[in-house]
Amino acid sequence: MSIPESFQGRLRLPLISAPMFLVSGPELVIEACKAGIVGTFPALNERSSEGFESWLVQIREALDSFEAETGKQAAPFGVNLIVHHTNPRVQADLELCIKHKVPLIITSLGAVKDLVDAVHGYGGLVFHDVINVRHAKKAAAAGVDGLIAVCNGAGGHAGTLNPFALLAEIRQFYQGTLILSGSMSTGQDVATAQMMGADLAYMGTRFINTQESRANPEYKQMIVESSAADITYTPKISGIWANFLKPSLAKAGLDPDSGEKKKVDLGEELQAPEGGASAWKSIWSAGQGVGSIADAPPVAELVERLQDEYRDATEHFAKLSGAYREQTK
Ligand SMILES: Cc1cc2nc3c(=O)[nH]c(=O)nc-3n(C[C@H](O)[C@H](O)[C@H](O)COP(=O)(O)O)c2cc1C
Repeated sequence: MSIPESFQGRLRLPLISAPMFLVSGPELVIEACKAGIVGTFPALNERSSEGFESWLVQIREALDSFEAETGKQAAPFGVNLIVHHTNPRVQADLELCIKHKVPLIITSLGAVKDLVDAVHGYGGLVFHDVINVRHAKKAAAAGVDGLIAVCNGAGGHAGTLNPFALLAEIRQFYQGTLILSGSMSTGQDVATAQMMGADLAYMGTRFINTQESRANPEYKQMIVESSAADITYTPKISGIWANFLKPSLAKAGLDPDSGEKKKVDLGEELQAPEGGASAWKSIWSAGQGVGSIADAPPVAELVERLQDEYRDATEHFAKLSGAYREQTK
């Protein structure tokens, strides 16, 4: 149970700002790493591999100048690669990650040993996201450094398992870094993830509502106005079970309870025209943690708030547990 050696002493909170399609870009990643949490983005958020490389350069330069100017260490950053036969860019993007020695690669869908070996070759780490024990065992066998347990209520392609159940089952056979994902919005949630046995928390939806996210203002406002009951879990929008905001479906004239299951095609999702009713672009994803989100502050301000909440929660817990210990003396 630990965080990787290359993360130690570089995090102000045990937290990763999770990669989000069309939402997280260099602005969010840079601010997250400067604030002391791991910032990540999906390689596919830039339309071409050339564009993706320019983002890698932009992030490196910004973090290098931050370190030179402040004398502080920025947190490591990460790139999400979707390892699926319909993603035409995965090999080219991996080669760029190797060229630029991206500290953390987060793989989704496929866990491939060759990819893990290639990333280990330059000293990088691979975390893989899973929604069940079968996938977790496969990824562990491929030699990944961390497993992200994507539980019920998470934004994007969520799982259905309760976090207590999934974390405990993974821990029975996996000793690497364990990361919890799904519905966390506060510093208290981060502390709770650690109490549950996770090494790091993984937050997506909370970071949609930041100034540096690429989500449009209407999307952010919908999150502010929504609660868990406004989230629907359906395979019909992107072909894989995922959580979406019901009001965005209604706005596009869609009913989550009707229609055929869509076939997964990442190429098609990337090329979807602006303005149409398409998954992620106008039908918006969010996790069940939306009910605790009431604003869209700058990342630096949000991370400070999360730190305060984390500290308060851990102090409160220390008092509570201390009182119980007293009573059993
Ligand atoms: C809008 C949106 C887009 C997402 N896109 C991706 C993605 O491209 N790749 C990925 O691995 N996970 C993606 N996710 C999942 C997140 O990385 C993370 O697992 C999830 O947001 C955590 O749950 P939370 O949103 O309840 O905090 C996405 C989530 C959201 C909300």
